[in-house]
Amino acid sequence: MIKEIFNIKALVLENIKLNPYTFRLILRAPEIASSVKPGQFCMLKVRDQLSYDPLLRRPFSINRVENKDIHILYRVVGKGTKYMSNLSKEDQIEILGPLGNGFKIIKNKINILVAGGMGIAPISFLTSSLPKDKTIVIVGAANKEELFDIDYIKNQGYSLFIATDDGSMGKKGLVTEILKEKLDELLLDKGNKDIVVYSCGPYPMLKNLANICKRLKIDAQVSMEAKMACGIGLCLGCVVSKNDGGFLHVCKDGPVFDVNEVNWS
Ligand SMILES: Cc1cc2nc3c(=O)[nH]c(=O)nc-3n(C[C@H](O)[C@H](O)[C@H](O)COP(=O)(O)OP(=O)(O)OC[C@H]3O[C@@H](n4cnc5c(N)ncnc54)[C@H](O)[C@@H]3O)c2cc1C
Ligand code: FES
Repeated sequence: MIKEIFNIKALVLENIKLNPYTFRLILRAPEIASSVKPGQFCMLKVRDQLSYDPLLRRPFSINRVENKDIHILYRVVGKGTKYMSNLSKEDQIEILGPLGNGFKIIKNKINILVAGGMGIAPISFLTSSLPKDKTIVIVGAANKEELFDIDYIKNQGYSLFIATDDGSMGKKGLVTEILKEKLDELLLDKGNKDIVVYSCGPYPMLKNLANICKRLKIDAQVSMEAKMACGIGLCLGCVVSKNDGGFLHVCKDGPVFDVNEVNWS
């Protein structure tokens, strides 16, 4: 099936500061809102019309869809995201998407969603496709100020477990420790064929999660990040090693991969 990709000028509705370096950008983008799937991303032109810096568009996951609008949850780390943080209501921003392959929803399973840091962005969107009574969400961050969408997930009625590095909210420790506990509990009465894990977060967390799921033979999909120049498979800028040799393009083959596709060594 050919996927339609739109290049549009989206209207900024809100750009909400959540903490000193994290923002929620709400854009009116009806074409993208009506077609994007959880786990897909967009490339944003993060510069003024008259400027060429930064030249390349930047990739961002879709964090939420509300009617004609999309939400992007982002952290300011460099020039492009600094530009985004200065956008105000009524500004416009050029946006290309939806891009890549999102999460493949496997029906009638117990879903465990695991998010680390800004990895909450696509995981939060994924909840909207999964049944509340069969879904557990595990969210981790450095501290409670770095946790986002907690109330959004809780208010929808999902079982939520939190881990922070400093113990300021939830369990002190790593999300993968909670994942192991939940898997041990569930495996006793469900068996590994009835569980699927979906995740997004920093590479070391995903590697740890992949090792756990591969050892227990549990289906798992991870959304990965890479530096991207084009976002559509043309520049070879975003490759990761494939398990059976060769390379995968994060933008075109991913960003969501089965853990068994990736070479984690
Ligand atoms: C598919 C995908 C989805 C993403 N979704 C989100 C999201 O929802 N929210 C969000 O805040 N960020 C997300 N990112 C990361 C985001 O694209 C980068 O933070 C952004 O491009 C940085 O642009 P910049 O110009 O501000 O920083 P730059 O000046 O380009 O870089 C500043 C610093 O950030 C590092 N950096 C840049 N890009 C990445 C990257 N892709 N991964 C890791 N480190 C990087 C650089 O090495 C450098 O140290 C996503 C990345 C990908 C590939
Ligand atoms: S970003 Fe160009 S090939 Fe993936």
